[in-house]
Amino acid sequence: MSHSAEREAAGSAIAATTGNRAPRRVGVIGGTRYFGRHLVSLLRDAGAEVTLVNRGSAPPPPGVDHVRADRDDEDALTAALGDRTFDAVIDQVLYTPAQAVVARRVFADRTPRYVMTSTMEVYDPATSPLVRTTPGVPVTEEAVDPAHWPVDLDLPWHDPAALVRHFGEATAYAEGKRQAEAVLAAGRPPFGWASVRSAHVLGGGALDFTGRLAHFTGAVAAGRPVAVHEQPQPTSFVRHEEIAAALVAVAASSSVCAVNAASAEPLDAVGLSELIAGQLGTTARYRPAEGADHAPFSFDRWYPMDTRRAGSLGLSFSPLGSWLPAAVAEAAAAITAEATTTEATITIAGKDV
Ligand SMILES: NC(=O)c1ccc[n+]([C@@H]2O[C@H](COP(=O)([O-])OP(=O)(O)OC[C@H]3O[C@@H](n4cnc5c(N)ncnc54)[C@H](OP(=O)(O)O)[C@@H]3O)[C@@H](O)[C@H]2O)c1
Repeated sequence: MSHSAEREAAGSAIAATTGNRAPRRVGVIGGTRYFGRHLVSLLRDAGAEVTLVNRGSAPPPPGVDHVRADRDDEDALTAALGDRTFDAVIDQVLYTPAQAVVARRVFADRTPRYVMTSTMEVYDPATSPLVRTTPGVPVTEEAVDPAHWPVDLDLPWHDPAALVRHFGEATAYAEGKRQAEAVLAAGRPPFGWASVRSAHVLGGGALDFTGRLAHFTGAVAAGRPVAVHEQPQPTSFVRHEEIAAALVAVAASSSVCAVNAASAEPLDAVGLSELIAGQLGTTARYRPAEGADHAPFSFDRWYPMDTRRAGSLGLSFSPLGSWLPAAVAEAAAAITAEATTTEATITIAGKDV
């Protein structure tokens, strides 16, 4: 997206949310890679004074204040923030209830508004017996209610390796997010909180450090079989610029809730592979998934998200078909750029990219 198009997206996202204006002073925890970078520049370009908090792996973009601190170190974070206060804080890297406890204390008197970037993984029924989904029915926010979700602060939240040993990786991530939301919502929160439950984020080519769309695109382009479940279930996706704009819009609103953020149309791993193959002018090949050996976005359980609450808040997400082909083209271009040393080239619809 061009600079002016991003600025326009920020403006319309903010206007769409109950006519609110962008918060003037915004803290962003994280914000140094992928859609976090979009988020920071959208806010800045919408006229906000942005403070970026990270441990220093990357400097903020021009015009953005920088606080270096580890968000897990309460004393260091408090000291580094000094006397800064905000109209809103957007927390991109809130993963555990222990971090949420610290955030509540550190930001209680610094902001009236706290927005957490959460994930659709909170709905994965494989990671909690308390989550129930009905095949064919998109999952609404009520399926995981932060106000009533049990929190266990005695689990080893400060020790990622111990947490993964206890839960397994997927459950550690999903349950950490659920319980972090629950801590924000508990009792009488010191600020108006919101949790934006993001679908799988796609687009941006090499910007997408997760490499998942590149995995698909590379496999289909090379004729490698994609490992899919016997009856792959669809999942939800969102465009990288649109999740950034949604976070800005939710920060500008006063809604206290969790909200699903996704394009409305779910897609499964075969549908994604076929779309890529169509664009590359080739044929997708498949092999059966075996245990943990399966392609990203291949699922054997149902939890695509319902997006009606987002609509009622004025958030809008483009139809999947309107942006996914461009995201695939960007992934293919990034692979080709990376592979120039091996002289590999991916062809899209007869044109080299
Ligand atoms: N990608 C997806 O498909 C997807 C889907 C759903 C949800 N999400 C959510 O999106 C969020 C990540 O967004 P993003 O990748 O664009 O990240 P981001 O906003 O750029 O945040 C990542 C940055 O946060 C900083 N950070 C990490 N731990 C920190 C700590 N303890 N203290 C201070 N700073 C810290 C790191 O910089 P330093 O190393 O310098 O500290 C890192 O570069 C996560 O909450 C994730 O659950 C992603």
